[in-house]
Amino acid sequence: MCGIFGYIGEKPCASLLLEGLRRLEYRGYDSAGMAVLAPTLSIIKAKGQIAELAKKLKSTTPTGTIGIAHTRWATHGEPNEQNAHPHTCTHERIAVVHNGIIENYHALREYLKEKGHHFQSDTDSEVLAHLIGHFAKDEPDFFIAVQQALSEVEGAYGIAAIKEGRDEIIVARNGSPLILGIGDGEYFVSSDHTAINDHTKDIICLEDKDIARLTREGYTIIDMHNKEIHRDVEKITWDIHKIQLSGHDHFMHKEIIEQPETVANAFRGRLGKTAVKLDGLEEFKDFPFTRIRILACGTSYYAGLIGKYLFEENARIPTEVDYASEFRYRNPILSSDELVIAISQSGETADTLEAIRLAKKSTATFGIVNVVGSTIARQTKAGIYIHAGPEIGVASTKAFTGQVTCLYLLAIELRRRTHPADYLSRREELLAIPEKIKEILSHEEDIKAISKVYARHDNALYLGRGLNYPVALEGALKLKEISGIHAEGYPAAEMKHGPIALIDENMPVVFIATGDEVNYEKVLSNMAEVKARKGKIIAIASKNDIRLTKLADHIILVPKTTECLSPLLNVIPLQLLAYHMAVLRGKNPDRPQNLAKAVTVE
Ligand code: M6R
Repeated sequence: MCGIFGYIGEKPCASLLLEGLRRLEYRGYDSAGMAVLAPTLSIIKAKGQIAELAKKLKSTTPTGTIGIAHTRWATHGEPNEQNAHPHTCTHERIAVVHNGIIENYHALREYLKEKGHHFQSDTDSEVLAHLIGHFAKDEPDFFIAVQQALSEVEGAYGIAAIKEGRDEIIVARNGSPLILGIGDGEYFVSSDHTAINDHTKDIICLEDKDIARLTREGYTIIDMHNKEIHRDVEKITWDIHKIQLSGHDHFMHKEIIEQPETVANAFRGRLGKTAVKLDGLEEFKDFPFTRIRILACGTSYYAGLIGKYLFEENARIPTEVDYASEFRYRNPILSSDELVIAISQSGETADTLEAIRLAKKSTATFGIVNVVGSTIARQTKAGIYIHAGPEIGVASTKAFTGQVTCLYLLAIELRRRTHPADYLSRREELLAIPEKIKEILSHEEDIKAISKVYARHDNALYLGRGLNYPVALEGALKLKEISGIHAEGYPAAEMKHGPIALIDENMPVVFIATGDEVNYEKVLSNMAEVKARKGKIIAIASKNDIRLTKLADHIILVPKTTECLSPLLNVIPLQLLAYHMAVLRGKNPDRPQNLAKAVTVE
């Protein structure tokens, strides 16, 4: 949700800034811009993707060595050049880039207008530039002016600011992630480390209310108590090739194909011979929780719905799943014997973060997160990483299967504590999953052929039962996110309570039909109901299933596994189906309309 990048050093920075923005483009791609001290402030902005900014830079490349840049995901104000960052205060020659939402911007804007400031955009962010300018008028130390301005601000921000005549970048964070890159005589600031990875492996994750001054000679960080603070320098361990396309047309495709490896990464070193080894869970050995509550958004929420099934089925622990955004606004009843699990790929989703902050006031919290060192990972008492590596595609794929794998690990470990004899078979089944995913991926061409048949349809229905109902939800979400086709996921049996009204020869219905005996028979009846209304059926079925051939128009076969692990296999064809439909419709699956990768606004 907006990407910030900045550089101070000896090198001409315009091309570095542009490259940094390219790495961050998945966070937003409505418009982009940069400000470079050259030595006067030089601002270049463009509506649209980074490529548009690059075109403009060909004719005017500023030559300075200090600069800040931004790629935008619009919140306040439509995506156009005027609303693109950086925003400036022309009196004081200040430029600011911002990620987040300034909640009291209206009052601040009115106040600043009265003081003679002229606003150029419709954004909330522009008040920051003017507010800093307002304080900088009387305060020669730019750092202090930024600090004074931020003390007036309510809301979330990650910012970087520069001022003519000052060889420094001032950066600050509250609620929106910001990372410093520590180079040799050069320093970087970025919304995440994918953009820093090219230059240095040494990073510092700023904490909320930190303000830092970066110069060519070094950096200082002041914390919320106005004290200079030491923050640990961490090493980026993600490999650079993981954030390159490596021969794939899109990151989403690369990330789908990576899943045999990423699922294995989620359980590697954890599946002991007699027990699951999860350091995070060890933290709770003196906390006999009797209930679990899962908080998450989007795809992570669907993984959570699968988690409910896994915990209840394996460990018989009652589990509730909440959209983080609903939970935090409804005065929830939390008991102190509940373990609250936050699931998040980015670890920065604002609603999940605030929900976990609320939950931790009453009980213990646990994170299932991909991005190492992210805010949710740090805000939870303990947790486990899914180790999927950077997920760049806006549509989450490998993070979902990593999350489900981690939930499964937790569930079978909790079961093992009361039923140790059941552990080995559950372990063996999980170990076999990566090879089974590979087998499904080897049929990509068949799935692409099915996509061709339906790529021009406007609607689709996804149906599943039990823990394949959330898989249906996830399949539908993937399709609607990236292809522009309207899709709905439904519990298969609910179809006759409403959606059946929509079924005719123009409605493709994707059935997940791999369930156990009872579920399978029921799904077969639901298929017959669709067939009777001339609907088109695409069935995800277990290998050797011959009964479906009479009912389904297309069958995608997946290897057999246990009911609990079936989501890890069934979701793969749904991801590929969505991907190919989107490409066939001329869409870029990595840049879905209106979406951003990390939703750091509420
Ligand atoms: O980073 P998170 O897992 O917390 O993100 C949650 C959702 O924003 C995310 O899953 C979103 O729904 C994806 N675009 C789904 O593909």
